[in-house]
Amino acid sequence: MNSTSTFLELRDVYISYIGVEAVRGVSIKVNERDFVTVIGANGAGKSSIFNTISGLFKPAKGEIWFNGERIDQLDAPEIAKKGVIQVPEGRKIFPLLSVKENLMVGAYMQKDRKNIARNLEKVYALYPVLKERTNSKGMRLSGGQQQMLAIGRALMADPKLILLDEPSLGLSPIFCKNLENQMKVLQKEGHTILLVEQNARMGLSLSNYGYVLENGELRKEGPSAQLLKDPDIIKAYLGV
Ligand SMILES: Nc1ncnc2c1ncn2[C@@H]1O[C@H](COP(=O)(O)OP(=O)(O)OP(=O)(O)O)[C@@H](O)[C@H]1O
Ligand SMILES: [Mg+2]
Repeated sequence: MNSTSTFLELRDVYISYIGVEAVRGVSIKVNERDFVTVIGANGAGKSSIFNTISGLFKPAKGEIWFNGERIDQLDAPEIAKKGVIQVPEGRKIFPLLSVKENLMVGAYMQKDRKNIARNLEKVYALYPVLKERTNSKGMRLSGGQQQMLAIGRALMADPKLILLDEPSLGLSPIFCKNLENQMKVLQKEGHTILLVEQNARMGLSLSNYGYVLENGELRKEGPSAQLLKDPDIIKAYLGV
């Protein structure tokens, strides 16, 4: 597989809840090693798209392809097994489990103990604070540390594609800055990342390509640097 092949592709995807068509005709492409961001306001449909990619919902219409295979009819565990790993909105760490136990949850599909140990060391090297707090209960961590734990848990699954759902939500400005650096490191290490964010400036400054989602439909797409300079985007999403 070369570096420009399409890794993830949503083709004209529709997502419906009972009586509500939340996402309409969305097409998104992510190439291997890309960092792609979908920006959109509250309720635009960002999490719906992620939950559909990861198999928690089935799309009403359209197709989702990953790594040359159609995945939209597969169940969530099968999709995770293919390496599509979601870091959910609100982090969803286990408050009563220790840091290490939370990380091991991410490794539940891994069989090779040596590989699990290697991944654990990698996560601890990336986030030393998690190593320091390895025996602390999840609920004892700060918001920023919980976000590291949620990302660390995803890394324990040997992800081929990481879906990051609003990681900056509820974080203080300092933790946001840390998070930005962490995401840069992930990209540098060769991970393929799809991020959804209300924090449009952060999302677009990190990514190489962006999509703008409004009320369940894509309004615009393009290289992130271009979107950051787009007067409509500046007005609607980037403030002054
Ligand atoms: N389980 C559900 N049942 C019914 N409607 C839902 C459900 N989940 C989401 N919706 C609706 O679908 C639309 C899109 O919601 P979604 O959570 O995907 O948006 P979002 O962009 O992730 O928003 P946020 O930034 O607040 O996380 C909203 O109108 C929401 O009310
Ligand atoms: Mg959401």
